[in-house]
Amino acid sequence: VSDAIRVPVDLENHSYDVLIGAGVRRMLPGLVARLTPSRVTLVTARPIRQLPPLGVETKVIEAGEGEGWKTLSTVESLCRAFAGHGLHRGDLVVSCGGGSVSDTVGLAAALYHRGLPVIHLPTSLLAQVDASVGGKTAVNLPEGKNLVGTYWQPAAVLCDTEFLCTLPEREWLSGYGEIARCHFIGAGDLRGLPVESQIEASIRLKASVVARDERDCGLRHLLNYGHTLGHALEIASDFSLRHGEGVAIGIVFAGELAGRLGRIPRARVAEHRAVVSAYGLPCDLPKGADPDHLALLMSRDKKASGKGLTFVLDGPSGVELVSEVPVDEAYGALRAMTHPRS
Ligand SMILES: NC(=O)c1ccc[n+]([C@@H]2O[C@H](COP(=O)([O-])OP(=O)(O)OC[C@H]3O[C@@H](n4cnc5c(N)ncnc54)[C@H](O)[C@@H]3O)[C@@H](O)[C@H]2O)c1
Ligand SMILES: [Zn+2]
Repeated sequence: VSDAIRVPVDLENHSYDVLIGAGVRRMLPGLVARLTPSRVTLVTARPIRQLPPLGVETKVIEAGEGEGWKTLSTVESLCRAFAGHGLHRGDLVVSCGGGSVSDTVGLAAALYHRGLPVIHLPTSLLAQVDASVGGKTAVNLPEGKNLVGTYWQPAAVLCDTEFLCTLPEREWLSGYGEIARCHFIGAGDLRGLPVESQIEASIRLKASVVARDERDCGLRHLLNYGHTLGHALEIASDFSLRHGEGVAIGIVFAGELAGRLGRIPRARVAEHRAVVSAYGLPCDLPKGADPDHLALLMSRDKKASGKGLTFVLDGPSGVELVSEVPVDEAYGALRAMTHPRS
């Protein structure tokens, strides 16, 4: 795959490359040869067509997918499968699937033998532009999403755009929610570009942020642009709204709110709607959404502290974390986005 796009993720002790393009999954045997494992366990949610032999003993395990699969008991099953296959330190785990698969397999790889190398082959647009890059891994508890996890950087990520051929329409949209967010946090205008370029630009942005703040101590919160309301909407819809759809509406909200607070001019507020709708994503609150409930959910967000609400907002000095936002202003912005007939 000579025309693969390479995006390096520069980290102190564990830098790696993200490779993007049609057919890059076929670069896996070359990566395996460089890592010299004696065994590979490949955990995959779907058959991988035309994958050349990896050159070492390989066991394929079928992954589930989705939030219901992202559990500690799945992590235990995976670790037991690694043990059953006789994996030791220096062997290799490969994940292939959506973000739920890279999050869960990544966590199992981080824990088994206190950490085995892992390579991700993300198959959804969202996993390619976001979940598989940056080293955050986690599973859910009944008490909440992503509550148990750790940082575990992959040894490489292969974003094969051929996987996207079977991706359902709503999952494309979900990925575009994350790409739309990149417009406002430094990636520039990606509308209308080929998907490979959109993926590349989104990953370059994420890589640069992660390189400066691997463990989410500051800068990395930029990546949560649009996410405070996005998360609240996901919860309020009982997760019938896809993550990227919630983020899309959350981006418009972040624009409305920054406008109300006098942080950005009207034209920049309008740009939020223009970008989100250009990607075919929703701009308004879903019918029947309850601003009171959403405000309550946002006040429980992990960024919230003390007085008022905390959001990642655009402003005169760029996008930054803004705390003590009066609840009334958040209500005002929500009302501006209320579905006309709800
Ligand atoms: N670790 C991180 O930094 C990070 C960042 C963002 C999201 N995430 C996590 O990622 C998950 C969301 O990722 P996701 O949207 O990929 O979810 P997912 O893994 O549930 O996949 C979404 C849907 O797409 C289907 N799918 C995936 N690839 C397909 C393909 N090639 N063809 C047909 N169908 C396909 C899946 O079966 C599933 O129904 C969440 O659990 C989220 O918490 C993690
Ligand atoms: Zn997101």
